[in-house]
Amino acid sequence: MSTDVDPRTEARFEKMRPLAQGKQVRVDPAQVPDGPTYPSLVQSIGLMRFRHRWIPHLHRKYGDVFSIRILPEGRWLVVFNRPDHVREIFAGDPEVFHAGKGNAILGPVMGEHSLLLVDSAQHKRARRLLMPAFNAHALRSYESMIEGLAKTEVGSWRDGAPFRSLERMNALTLEVILQVVFGVTDEARLGQLRPLVNRTVNVSPVVFLGWSAPRLQRLGPWRRAFENQVALDRVIYAEIAERRQATDLESRTDVLSRLLLVRDEDGGGLSDEELRDQLVTLLLAGHETTATALAWTLHELAKDPVQGEKARKAATTGDDAYLEAVLKEAMRLHPVIPMVVRHLMEPATIGGIELPAGANVAASIILAHASETSHPDHERFRPERFLEGEVAANTWIPFGGGVRRCIGAGFSLMEGVAVLREVLSAYDLALPQGAREAPKVRNITSVPRHGARVVVTRR
Ligand code: HEM
Repeated sequence: MSTDVDPRTEARFEKMRPLAQGKQVRVDPAQVPDGPTYPSLVQSIGLMRFRHRWIPHLHRKYGDVFSIRILPEGRWLVVFNRPDHVREIFAGDPEVFHAGKGNAILGPVMGEHSLLLVDSAQHKRARRLLMPAFNAHALRSYESMIEGLAKTEVGSWRDGAPFRSLERMNALTLEVILQVVFGVTDEARLGQLRPLVNRTVNVSPVVFLGWSAPRLQRLGPWRRAFENQVALDRVIYAEIAERRQATDLESRTDVLSRLLLVRDEDGGGLSDEELRDQLVTLLLAGHETTATALAWTLHELAKDPVQGEKARKAATTGDDAYLEAVLKEAMRLHPVIPMVVRHLMEPATIGGIELPAGANVAASIILAHASETSHPDHERFRPERFLEGEVAANTWIPFGGGVRRCIGAGFSLMEGVAVLREVLSAYDLALPQGAREAPKVRNITSVPRHGARVVVTRR
């Protein structure tokens, strides 16, 4: 290993690598509901590659609750979707319903303090310290910077030339993470960060799966991913050290500056390692997800001129509530994340079904959002359903729920509305000739397969 590796990076990899395997408690198959019996490798491929057809197929075949077995180690995943079952999962005791375990594979990159990886008391502390940077007051302070970034991005679009909106939304939401979350505005540092961060978010799942084997670390993709982490950590730690010296933290409006000011009840703040881990977590959790939701929204508005016109009117008259409904409806129709998972530390009962410790339970977002009972005319894009009080609790769950509900939910809705406002007040949207879309799995998100191509015409 090269000598200029920050010892903190090395320590993180040493500690998190073995945990990335996430050893499972053995579960007796007789204790979980029925489901497909083919090998767990085949089922994992079904879930990773074909979830949009496979999960609804299993629902039709086995009913509202079924079990699948996935890698590693053939772990059991019991899949629920009914609102009453979803409520029980989200309301489950956080000491019993752990969420961090299932994300252990991300440990070497996100780090041991990551909000996504910790459970119990550690999660409670991290959540309490991060929350002030995501409350309504903080969100308002980020808005004008996001608007500025959206205006610059949208201003660079060319009239009449089809382009992949997903690519542009990815570039924009990355800039939002760097400038509004990390608080970096210095061009030289942004120039250093962009390629490092891009390589981090584009790490292939194969690399993630290989983290637990130290010997792989010396080979091609694993070595390159590790070296990229070393370089990224160096820049992030330098930024944290400089920011600690800043005298204007109170007046700065970025997430990192706010996190530097928070104190726990003993007066302690977040350590450098904690800050690094949370920043990388926010980057990985908040960038592609928001870009994907926006790309699907633009696709739906471009596809349907009536909906496009209604949204355009809302953008020009400042009707943010309507724009938010548009975004929510696109996220309902095209769930960005397919399911949220909890690992049972003790036996638990859901929907009257007794499940053993060691089983994993999932609330399927794909199934919950496509329920005809919860969302009549569910295949239609109809934002009004969110304004007419039709959408009941636990039927629209793109951000999960309970104590683990996405901490960036408000942030991403505010960001999405700001971006839609800029796009729709500048352009009319249309689909290029013959353009069609279908979901494709990219890492864990479900992105538009063809990049949600659109054509814009300046108004
Ligand atoms: C459309 C955009 C987004 C979607 C669809 C989304 C979805 C989700 C989901 C499904 C979860 C798991 C919730 C659960 O287990 O119940 C989650 C957690 C999380 N998200 Fe988001 N997210 C989005 C945007 C963001 C943004 C913008 C950020 C930060 C800037 C963010 C940061 C996080 C974090 C830190 C967690 C872990 C929360 C915890 O375990 O306490 N997300 N997100």
